Amino acid sequence: MKNTVSTFKMQKESKDKITMLTAYDYSTAKLIDEAGVNGILVGDSLGMVMLGYEDTLSVTMEDMIHHIKAVTRGAKNALVVGDMPFMSYQTSVYDAVKNAGRLVQEGHCQAVKLEGGESVCPQIKAIVEASIPVMAHIGLTPQSVNAFGGFKVQGKSEDAAKRILQEAKAVEKAGAFAVVLECIPDKLAKIVTEEINIPTIGIGAGSDCDGQILVYQDMLGMFGGFKPKFVKRFANVGEEMTKAFKGYIEETKAKTFPAKEHCFKIDDSVIEKLY
Ligand code: KIV
Repeated sequence: MKNTVSTFKMQKESKDKITMLTAYDYSTAKLIDEAGVNGILVGDSLGMVMLGYEDTLSVTMEDMIHHIKAVTRGAKNALVVGDMPFMSYQTSVYDAVKNAGRLVQEGHCQAVKLEGGESVCPQIKAIVEASIPVMAHIGLTPQSVNAFGGFKVQGKSEDAAKRILQEAKAVEKAGAFAVVLECIPDKLAKIVTEEINIPTIGIGAGSDCDGQILVYQDMLGMFGGFKPKFVKRFANVGEEMTKAFKGYIEETKAKTFPAKEHCFKIDDSVIEKLY
């Protein structure tokens, strides 16, 4: 059955954990969807894990629409959330509504996500008034990496923790249907989760959030060197892929691939006429 914003709301009420993963292409979205996840985020993290940028700031609306289209074709049951890229909503309320509309109209996602708290509440309110569900995102918001001075845990001091709680209440009031809490202490995430009525989706925010999200390449061990503390590797797919690629190179060079079973037959009488 198709997951909707109402499913997320009911899951918070019944304390049934919400599961989300990122996806950026058709075939991965199909596998994730068939596994039974509640929601798929086409995150602007695609800038890093799919396009090789150092951060998410270079991702464009066109990049997002291209990938959201592929994911929505593969995801039949998961709620698909399209991420609003840097500068697609910060500039004005008008830009925010216009660009959220493009993600839904051209990408066919069912909701959008944007980063920030009180400063983007006018944008959240206006997008929701245009009948587009909004997932908010507070804590470590990667589009603010330069303002934060790096990818750092947020909300550790009394002031910062109070601010995060305040931001969570503000985005709820503005009409967000859920909020991502990224890289904040688990005890703070627990309080936020108890204090607001919309689902909290944690990434590096502990187990008391209403749901969890991970970047799929991180949880499959497909994305090199650096592994954030909050990531659990559920499989080592990267290693398996490297093994398979090497096997292919070796067998091709040794002429053991393709074997007879990979070849198409032709009648010998036809071949004889070619000489
Ligand atoms: O872009 C993204 O993938 C995200 C998640 C990490 C929440 O924002």
